[in-house]
Amino acid sequence: MRYLVTSALPYANGPVHFGHIAGAYLPADIFVRYKRLRREEILFICGTDEHGTPITFSAQAEGIAPLAYADRYHEVIKGQFERLAIEFDNFSRTTLPLHHELTQQLFLALLKNGYIFEKIGPALFCPSCKKGLADRFVVGTCYVCGFDRARGDECQKCGTALDALRLADPRCKTCGTPAQKRDTPNWFVDLPKLRPKIDPYLTEAFTRWKESVKGEVNKYWTDLRPWVITRDLDWGVRVPLETEDARGKVFYVWFDAPIGYISSTIEWAEKRGKKDSWRDWWLDRKNTRLIHFIGKDNIVFHTLRWPAVLLGQDEPYLVPHDVPANEFYNLEGAKWSKGEGWYIDFFEFLEKYPADALRWTIARGAPETKDSEFTWKDFQAKVNAELLGNFGNFASRVLKFVKEKLGGNVPQARAPLVEHEAIALAKAQKAHDEIGRELDRYGVRAACERLLEIGAFGNKLLEQREPWKTLKTEPDRCATTLNVAVKILEVLSLSLFPFCPRTAEKLWKQLGLDGKVTDRAWSEPAPDPAGRALGEIEHVFKKVEDEEVAREVAALRARAAERAQKETRVDEPKKPDATSPASPATPGAAKPAAPAPPAKPADGPKGDIAFEDFAKLDIKIAKVLTCAPVAGADKLYQLEIEIEGGAKRTVVSGIRPWYQETDLVGREVVYLANLAPKKIRGAMSQGMILAARTPDGGAILLKPEKTAFPGSKVS
Ligand code: 2FM
Ligand code: ZN
Repeated sequence: MRYLVTSALPYANGPVHFGHIAGAYLPADIFVRYKRLRREEILFICGTDEHGTPITFSAQAEGIAPLAYADRYHEVIKGQFERLAIEFDNFSRTTLPLHHELTQQLFLALLKNGYIFEKIGPALFCPSCKKGLADRFVVGTCYVCGFDRARGDECQKCGTALDALRLADPRCKTCGTPAQKRDTPNWFVDLPKLRPKIDPYLTEAFTRWKESVKGEVNKYWTDLRPWVITRDLDWGVRVPLETEDARGKVFYVWFDAPIGYISSTIEWAEKRGKKDSWRDWWLDRKNTRLIHFIGKDNIVFHTLRWPAVLLGQDEPYLVPHDVPANEFYNLEGAKWSKGEGWYIDFFEFLEKYPADALRWTIARGAPETKDSEFTWKDFQAKVNAELLGNFGNFASRVLKFVKEKLGGNVPQARAPLVEHEAIALAKAQKAHDEIGRELDRYGVRAACERLLEIGAFGNKLLEQREPWKTLKTEPDRCATTLNVAVKILEVLSLSLFPFCPRTAEKLWKQLGLDGKVTDRAWSEPAPDPAGRALGEIEHVFKKVEDEEVAREVAALRARAAERAQKETRVDEPKKPDATSPASPATPGAAKPAAPAPPAKPADGPKGDIAFEDFAKLDIKIAKVLTCAPVAGADKLYQLEIEIEGGAKRTVVSGIRPWYQETDLVGREVVYLANLAPKKIRGAMSQGMILAARTPDGGAILLKPEKTAFPGSKVS
């Protein structure tokens, strides 16, 4: 059996973040590396998805052409994958002419077969820009939550997928002019008509697919509706019809993007000088399995609409065999968002830490059945306790011992194996086999756990046999223990390869093995290492210190607070936002830039207060002297503050999620002094620290613009 493996084509609209990597790229790379060690025939395909409205906005904001923008991010993203050792057989682009031609060809085949129809219906139009307002070119008031700057395709506030035609007060995003409704032609894939092909396909596929994927498909399968696949835009693949109706129409990005899997394969075949060899993969349903690694927000496109396009062709294209979709992978409790400052700079991160440390951390927390997240604390724990404490510790104990005490060559097992040795070796081998079985069913997390067991068996063996003692008293025993330990380390290196390929290669060299890890097949029996000279010992990972973690978390929070402050200060309609995240549709989707809440209507005379009432508030500047978390309340700090004349007060404040203790001590705050004291979680709070509320419920402390000194009155 052969496997055609794909990872979702990332939008060329910005770098990918760890969330994307956890969803569609790392699990696929691990799977492919493992299958290659199993000597399965595999082709691993990807490329950038370069159409769609977000790219046009980003380009517009910079005053460059969309293609120039896509050029840049194609290179950036390609570089990111290289840094992470995510190795595709081909990494293509959907702006290539061959992709445009193929998209048009597949469309025409659907049309010829009666699975496409044209229909005239209402659409939004900007009379000032004189163009149709596709998807994100329109803003208006969300009909679900009332947010007044919702995008045409999705409300950033309540997350509803929107029908732009139902927005209240729709306007052109580019110029603000109220949008008009006009009748315009569009083309639809007739999914109901394709039902006789879709139903048997899905029924069979459901015997394999995971529950979360089936659940998502079911939302659309029972009520199949025609799918509109054209837009009024000038960026995208042109609709290949010579009619007046087709003028200025391109395909919706989700129509052409998956076709990129085929066009990338064609490009791969052309680069190898075997132009038609792509057909051996895509048109051989009997011997090839198509596997799409994606994030959960891409499910319906890959499991229903894309297969429908393939099933409506004349040629017997492969249809997705498996769609191992992952949930989201967040950052420190919130969605990744460049716009909100809630991100980690990928390249800076890799300046400081090895790529394999990131691969391992993400693999360990792979969001297979529920959302998970990257946290700095967890990263520290994975590096220190697992990569260093478990694998690194075992490797360096074994290698150092052989080098320093046994002359550097792996000793022979000169005594029969005692129980501990035989058991440790058998268990390590069994765990290796189980890793294979887990990976066969895309179980990256479980596979990581088995890997840790191998390291643990090795470490335990050393503790049980204490070779540093038997070295003098029973040299044959000692030699045997080390021979077994080297064998276990070899199993560990091979098992580790799909997850941490560079580390595995380094271990391979240190073990004195020739060639590369990939020269050894997954289930190939290893020759006896006895007599082999070990290579140079090299330490791969460095301990991650508490201070680094505290610094990174504080920097992340400070940046987000600063962005939120800017957002809430500006009470003007927003311009098209070039820094907003790639797209909510990307795997591990980033959160759209937090919008300012809609302004409340003026309350009128009833809501006004008299100046005397305002004057009753005793608001002052105070300085934080000490800060301590309140036990059992993860949102609260107890602060000791200095008020006028060096007097002190205690205040309990719910700002702990957004500030570190060290952020607070020594800073000036705005303090409401005459609020009636209140007991909060056992501590008497005398007054209140004032903060601005961010739209997502966060808090930003107010502070005087210059040093104002405790006791200064705020009025
Ligand atoms: O969500 C995304 O990032 C899309 N660019 C994925 C496309 S996958 C495939 F269809 F190309
Ligand atoms: Zn809404």
